[in-house]
Amino acid sequence: MEVSADPPVPPAVARDGVWLGCIACEESFAPFSEIRYVCDSCGGLLEVRYVDRPSFDEFDGRGVWRYGASLPLEKSVTIDEGATPLYRVPDLADDVGVETLRIKHEGMNPTGSFKDRGMTVGVGVARELGVSRLACASTGNTSAALAAYGSRAEMETLVLLPTGKVAAGKVAQASLHGARILEVDGNFDDCLDLVQALADRGEAYLLNSVNPFRLEGQKTIGFEIVERFLEDYGTVPDRIVLPVGNAGNTAALYKAFRELVGAGALSPTDVPKLTGVQAEGSAPLVEAIERGADEVRRWDDVETRATAIRIGYPVNAPKALPGIRETGGTAVAVTDAAITAAQRDLAGAGIGVEPASAASLAGLRTLRDEGVVSADERVVCLTTGHLLKDPDAAAEAGTDPEPVPAALDGVLAHLETEP
Ligand code: F0G
Repeated sequence: MEVSADPPVPPAVARDGVWLGCIACEESFAPFSEIRYVCDSCGGLLEVRYVDRPSFDEFDGRGVWRYGASLPLEKSVTIDEGATPLYRVPDLADDVGVETLRIKHEGMNPTGSFKDRGMTVGVGVARELGVSRLACASTGNTSAALAAYGSRAEMETLVLLPTGKVAAGKVAQASLHGARILEVDGNFDDCLDLVQALADRGEAYLLNSVNPFRLEGQKTIGFEIVERFLEDYGTVPDRIVLPVGNAGNTAALYKAFRELVGAGALSPTDVPKLTGVQAEGSAPLVEAIERGADEVRRWDDVETRATAIRIGYPVNAPKALPGIRETGGTAVAVTDAAITAAQRDLAGAGIGVEPASAASLAGLRTLRDEGVVSADERVVCLTTGHLLKDPDAAAEAGTDPEPVPAALDGVLAHLETEP
């Protein structure tokens, strides 16, 4: 008997009633007829818009594609992304001093970060557009996810990484999933400039978060949080705290809430306060919030051990800044030491995250200490990537192995000593 092969994945089918709108000048474009990342008229960021505003009773299934009625195409390239846990951490909630704290662990996605949510949609669209080569600049996680989804879709994948600044697990993933890895002698922002120039020349289809389709997948984080909170507490969280790099997730969550408000599933006054956290050495969005500015100033020199968010010019700032302001949220910078402490705290609750992810908890602590967050708040911290992404950072933050002889007596004697 022969085992039959999986049927071929059908090409994605575009849905009617979907278009791309410019957030700056309101120009609109058909979504799948030509490749376009920004507005032809003014260069502004684009977002995907829909005629229909589906609500929770129209969602069905599990994971990102549960929310297919709110996505721009049918499922075509998937590795079962989404449906991540929303852990309860009552001891941490007491310790931080808030009413409720839940941890939405995006590190539990197939490649270990939230990027998979964006790629299942973005790579599906790439297929719809008929492109042959995919590309991204990355601090690591985007490249790992793009490599996996690209290989799943049998497409060529090119990733540009800043030399020496990407955690080992992420490079290993991109490599094994078969991406062509270009190491650039520069930082992430230089890599993004380069890959945007390549995309503009038609050399590759760009899958960084400037691509509006990626954010559609990522907005399902917001749907999952709201849906689960309504089930568990009959209300939505007061605040969502998340690490910020390019501000794609901040923009995506804001869009999720606006869509839910449009559908009548969420009251406009109940929207969770979006609260962004950056590392002190890489905090242009925090600076813009503090200055009350509509634009971020590019930081040419950025540094933090949370390499995933070592970004000096968040491309999605024009979408994210209004999201933070209109929801009554804020943005805060934290030290690398506070990030490591938060990484240990989460690990102590059994939740293994990479440094950038721990920035959310570190930021919550800072804002609670400053009185910006109040004691009666129900808060969700987003942890964006898994501990194993950055094994070196984990080993540095953790305890050292203790050498013992290969003999029971020696092991017992060793256990008598203090660790
Ligand atoms: N956390 C992790 C673990 C990330 O990898 C990233 C971004 C962020 C947070 C920031 O998210 O850009 O939506 O504000 N990583 C990108 C990458 C830049 O290339 O993997 P954002």
